[in-house]
Amino acid sequence: MASEPNIETLFSSAQIAKRNEELAEQIASDLGRDILVIAVLKGSFVFAADLIRSLHHAGVRPQIDFMALSSYGDKTISSGTVVITRDIMDTVKGRKVLLIDDILESGRTMEFARDELMSRGAETVKTCLMLDKKGKRVVDFEADFVGFDCPDLFVIGYGLDYAHYYRELPYIGHILDK
Ligand code: IMP
Ligand code: MG
Repeated sequence: MASEPNIETLFSSAQIAKRNEELAEQIASDLGRDILVIAVLKGSFVFAADLIRSLHHAGVRPQIDFMALSSYGDKTISSGTVVITRDIMDTVKGRKVLLIDDILESGRTMEFARDELMSRGAETVKTCLMLDKKGKRVVDFEADFVGFDCPDLFVIGYGLDYAHYYRELPYIGHILDK
């Protein structure tokens, strides 16, 4: 097996846990008790799993669903389109939706998902991102709830992958020797 890479921690598991509790309080006071959480696969599954338990502490009683999205084409070209590769099972009509994803870069994925769910008749769609790379935005999109501002580095862990590895790391970091 290859030797372990040198990974610098950007956000520790203790920092993440504390931030999740704060986010959950904000979400609870904004959206209330009865919400539909939609977690975007794969990257948000760890964050979403922790955040829903913080939401429970904050008094929210969510239903949970998942959707998988893929961007096609060159990510640097603004015409790059997003498609649904796995759709939700629930109906969003009249629901208060909390859409959760791992990291906001161009903003295309979240903009697409929010617009799609609104067009299906959701009462409201609020977005919650674990990380925000503000400098990378291509479309005019701002998240409603953000865990941490992220430096312009390729980050891994806590659900985020590099070539499908490192999702299991309990913290968020970046690989120093790459
Ligand atoms: P965008 O906002 O549509 O550009 O989508 C961002 C997506 O790109 C995220 O959901 C991640 O899947 C992926 N991504 C962006 N930056 C990183 C990173 O630093 N590490 C791992 N995945 C990333
Ligand atoms: Mg993703």
